Amino acid sequence: MTAVLGFGGYAPERIMTNDDWAALVDTDDEWITTRTGIRRRHFAADDESTLDLAHEAALVAIADAGMTAADLDEIIVATDTPEVYTPDTAALLQDRLGAGNIPTYDLGGSGCAGWIQALDVARARIAFEPKVVLVVGVELISRLISWADRSTAVLFGDAAGAVVLGLGAGRAELLDVVTGTDGSKASILTLETGGTRKPFNAESLASGAYQFLAMDGREVFREAVGRMADTVGGVLRRIDRSVDDVALVIPHQANKRIIDAVRKRVGLEPDRVYVNVQEYGNTGSASVPLALWEAVGAGRIAAGDLVILTAFGAGFHWAAAAVQF
Ligand code: UT7
Repeated sequence: MTAVLGFGGYAPERIMTNDDWAALVDTDDEWITTRTGIRRRHFAADDESTLDLAHEAALVAIADAGMTAADLDEIIVATDTPEVYTPDTAALLQDRLGAGNIPTYDLGGSGCAGWIQALDVARARIAFEPKVVLVVGVELISRLISWADRSTAVLFGDAAGAVVLGLGAGRAELLDVVTGTDGSKASILTLETGGTRKPFNAESLASGAYQFLAMDGREVFREAVGRMADTVGGVLRRIDRSVDDVALVIPHQANKRIIDAVRKRVGLEPDRVYVNVQEYGNTGSASVPLALWEAVGAGRIAAGDLVILTAFGAGFHWAAAAVQF
């Protein structure tokens, strides 16, 4: 039985409001609020980078587990915005934490579904051999958006979230995880420039092909609703429980309209779905662990509660996890 031993999260101090965006691009608070539910997002300071965010969230999760970095056996970091191209952010985090020479790896490229995928990998590692695994989701998307493209820029924020997984009673039990991928939909949410097919060089720079996210918003919206709702049903079937047994769903916080549509399809009242997109925007792979940490800290989850986590992301990937408190 895989247990969640500790929860952690971190959002940078700097706040970017809808009005701040309206001063930079042709948008306004009303459009952003009605179309997305987002009011503010946290942006990393100029001297902060991915590793700083990951480190803060990791420290909180490790302390919450009543442990020190020396207790960790493995580190996985889910991110699409790594500290550097090579090596992995997880290796740098191991060093910053002083966790000793334990194995580390990043799970990259899965967008906002990456952290739940990483949970799935971690529980398989623990089932194979008892160990304590730190699973971090971190994103510094403010460095990957075009500050001139209103259709993507206003949606995102920076943050990190983490859990410590292991064996034993813990704070909650990770009952099951379901994941899926449709690689034929890779183009609906992508950042192509910078890879080997389209290297970021003087030529790409001259043609305006910067390292920015490109997105077919409507198609992502459609896929996100269907896949997240189906996957919540999928993980509930796997654990032989129904929607009536669910105390709280914590969905990926991309857009309040997506969350509401998933909620209606699954058949839940608003008070059984956690929403913090108004405060953070879409923080990619950090979104679900940050919301989970916040929900636990806010007392939204009681002993005995069944909590379902669900996310979608570039790939196109989807994932859901069942957590029994
Ligand atoms: O983790 C995955 C990340 N991605 C997502 O979750 C995105 C999913 N998609 C969405 O959330 C929505 O599709 C958006 C919020 C991105 C867009 O909402 P929409 O209702 O699908 O709007 P739209 O793309 O159909 O655009 C409607 C209009 C367009 O103007 P015209 O062509 O009707 O004149 C856009 O140019 O809104 C315009 N628009 C904006 N206007 C003011 C697009 N962005 C903005 C903006 N401010 N920031």
